[in-house]
Amino acid sequence: MLSRKQTPPNSPWKEKEEKLLYYSKNKEAHFLMTILANPHLKFGAFVFVFLSAWLLLLLFWFPPKITITSTPTTSNNVDDVLLVRDQQNPNSPFKLPTCEDPSVSVYVYPLPAKFNVGLLDRCETLNVYTNMCPHVANCGLGQPKPNMGSAASWFATHQFIAEMIFHARVENHPCRTYDPSRATLFYVPFYGGLYASSKFREANLTARDELALGLVKYIQSLPTWQNRNGKDHFIALGRTAWDFMRTSDGPDFGANTLLNLAAVKNMSVLTVERQPWQGANQFGIPYPSYFHPSTWQEMLTWQRKVRETNRPHLFSFIGGPRKGLEKAAIRNEFIRQCGESTRCFLMKCGSNGASKCHEPREVLRVMTESIFCLQAAGDSYTRRSTFDSVLAGCIPVFFSPHTAYTQYKWFLPAEVSTFSVYIDEKSDASKRIEDELLKIPKEKVEMMREKVIEMIPSLTYAHPNASGIGFRDAVDVALASLANHVTN
Ligand SMILES: *[C@@H]1O[C@H](CO)[C@@H](O)[C@H](O)[C@H]1NC(C)=O
Ligand SMILES: *[C@@H]1O[C@H](CO)[C@@H](O)[C@H](O)[C@H]1NC(C)=O
Ligand SMILES: *[C@@H]1O[C@H](CO)[C@@H](O)[C@H](O)[C@H]1NC(C)=O
Repeated sequence: MLSRKQTPPNSPWKEKEEKLLYYSKNKEAHFLMTILANPHLKFGAFVFVFLSAWLLLLLFWFPPKITITSTPTTSNNVDDVLLVRDQQNPNSPFKLPTCEDPSVSVYVYPLPAKFNVGLLDRCETLNVYTNMCPHVANCGLGQPKPNMGSAASWFATHQFIAEMIFHARVENHPCRTYDPSRATLFYVPFYGGLYASSKFREANLTARDELALGLVKYIQSLPTWQNRNGKDHFIALGRTAWDFMRTSDGPDFGANTLLNLAAVKNMSVLTVERQPWQGANQFGIPYPSYFHPSTWQEMLTWQRKVRETNRPHLFSFIGGPRKGLEKAAIRNEFIRQCGESTRCFLMKCGSNGASKCHEPREVLRVMTESIFCLQAAGDSYTRRSTFDSVLAGCIPVFFSPHTAYTQYKWFLPAEVSTFSVYIDEKSDASKRIEDELLKIPKEKVEMMREKVIEMIPSLTYAHPNASGIGFRDAVDVALASLANHVTN
């Protein structure tokens, strides 16, 4: 069931850039013509050109004194790299990442290939549900989506692939060091999520856990591990913590035991969903969305677009029903309420729903046309959709604290009511979502949306091959927070 109500006049997908460019070019030409046609202006222009020439002449004759400061000689110094990075972005309005703080110095283990890139050789078997080959392409960004903007920045990125993008980003990161003795952080680039999803149906538990055990054995043998018993080590996983915490009593849904291992408990684990009660060493990182820009200008342009877009729908829900999962019961309630409301846009997914749910352009279009986006728990508490919603400037509405608040504390404002709406799924309010949302004053809505738009850069995975992006992306924030955690 798909009910499109109206197309807003200024959706970001109206290809209007070309038109704008054409217009501004014409405007310049028009300006010159006016000057040349008017005798007064002509005189003014002459004086202007004359004075400029005079100034240039003076500058050549008496050049201003330039003090040359001595340049550092070690070119491998991370601080020098940073300096170059800042000079590249003198006008960026964003807070820039900094490696000047020596606490952020990350060493990337050159692991044997079987723990990461070697797995990609059999990419068609990396996920028991789907062929991952198109998704692992381009360092995990997936297939380019030129129908969404620049093909260099928009991709149909798979939701469970953050570990690959993180790896590629850190490899090119200005805070990377090749000298373990200078490092404060040790990154173990294990593609644990891809490995886990390739073994979901492996009945032999020894075989299912084999690579995880091999990894732990390998890193524990290294002298760099022994310095701090792994306290300064971390891994980044693109799947939820539940996939790596098999219990002996609960039902077996295919998880391995990576996060139960003593050595991994000494490390920090970055994951798209932490186990809220047993995950003291687990830290939530964003699910990847579709935008992977290389420059701060692209980021600024996108923010401007979503700020100015017209939002005809009060709220929307994109999702499918779930059978037999208690935590997902709320989904059926949403589908009912949204279907009954003229102010809600429902994009129903699932076997008999629209396949548009998997088309990034359609998903983002609905979200940029909505003021609020409902975020119900699905198979687990978190959803990639939360990050799509922020990217679209759509204020997320949460029904469980574990969908975002207890997950991504490095990334979210401490005061959650500044950027989101919380409706307890067990409250009466959850029975009348539309009324609850209509109660929020317009000014408050605008402030919340502005906060959401401000959050976009730090929840975005920048293009891993870009240098000097000029804003702090998800990886910059994660590294800085991790360094802070490890040193304190
Ligand atoms: C980044 O550059 C490397 C080396 O040129 C290339 O192999 C890789 O495909 C590039 N990654 C992306 C995402 O374009
Ligand atoms: C289970 O897997 C392990 C490791 O691959 C292997 O040594 C063992 O023989 C397997 N057990 C069975 C019953 O197949
Ligand atoms: C974990 O750290 C503790 C010290 O904090 C240490 O005694 C223990 O051996 C470490 N475990 C492993 C597996 O390295």
